[in-house]
Amino acid sequence: MTYTQHYSVLKKECIDFLTENAADGEISYFADLTFGGGGHSFELLYTNPLFHVRSTDQDPDALNNGAARIEKEGMKERIKLFNTNFMHFPQIAKEQCPEVFEKGGFQGILLDLGVSSHHFDEAGRGFSFRFDGPLDMRMNYESDEFLTAEEIINTYREEKLVKIFTEYGEEKNARKIAAKICEERKTKPIKTTKDLENIIFHCYPKEHRYGKTNPSTRVFQALRLEVNRELEVLTETINQLIPLLKMGGRLAIISFHSLEDRIVKNLFKEAGESTVLPVQVLTKKPVIPSEEEILNNSRSRSAKLRVLERVEFKKDKNKYRKEFLEDEE
Ligand SMILES: C[S@@+](CC[C@H](N)C(=O)[O-])C[C@H]1O[C@@H](n2cnc3c(N)ncnc32)[C@H](O)[C@@H]1O
Repeated sequence: MTYTQHYSVLKKECIDFLTENAADGEISYFADLTFGGGGHSFELLYTNPLFHVRSTDQDPDALNNGAARIEKEGMKERIKLFNTNFMHFPQIAKEQCPEVFEKGGFQGILLDLGVSSHHFDEAGRGFSFRFDGPLDMRMNYESDEFLTAEEIINTYREEKLVKIFTEYGEEKNARKIAAKICEERKTKPIKTTKDLENIIFHCYPKEHRYGKTNPSTRVFQALRLEVNRELEVLTETINQLIPLLKMGGRLAIISFHSLEDRIVKNLFKEAGESTVLPVQVLTKKPVIPSEEEILNNSRSRSAKLRVLERVEFKKDKNKYRKEFLEDEE
């Protein structure tokens, strides 16, 4: 299976943030926990021959493509790609990457959340309503750990479907769509992307069926988040990544959904208030793509990048006020 070319979002901004504190003339380790097409991982490797990368992905297509690219580019000595959900990375890093901790930890860790262009372009994966395919949507289709979209659509209670479509998709017609799904599935199971698209289409008022956004967009997005438990995994993982950073090391997260961004923002804020493992949030406001980037890749339009840094001491918020008071005395 050919892996669709993936345009890496906010690539320069991420690389600049992650590498800014790397010491000259020394090996630095980075973790790219959402390898995808390898855009960010390889950019790190190209930036400096002393940069080494430890990556993860849970998608079998991304892993196969990645292994072939690593071999082709002769980078086996500098990058290791682990087949895992990134929530297991803290454990894997401790067990399988001792060389990183001999250097004090990771200089940078990156999460570029969600799915890649490949997922949307491959009919058999069931992520897109543009093609007819099985309602799967699991990033890791080789694992039974996660329910498929088909299982969710055909087994969840109506109220639970309403909740998912409303909370994860902000779908205004959630109630009507969930009711129709439950009615249809009594006669025969809903199995394909086109079966579901057809149901959603007819739940939309006629005047809204041909708008700028396809009526299925929000429900499909909500289902994808539910299938892969994306918000849950993100919430569980962020705090575990911070101790893997060396002093001055940075954690950068790109999100594409307002709920994801809220999780990142709130957990970064909490981490910033903790005195146990001091960190400084570097992005008061998220970094967003330039107009030029959005023109080149419309998928980047919803991207938000937030970054924090592990620090020895936190900058005192009242520093200037204190200095002022001292002057006064
Ligand atoms: C947006 S793409 C990353 C693209 C990549 N940065 C690039 O430039 O090519 C996200 C990738 O992360 C993977 N992914 C998403 N959530 C994951 C998780 N919890 N664990 C492991 N991989 C995950 C997806 O399978 C997908 O390949």
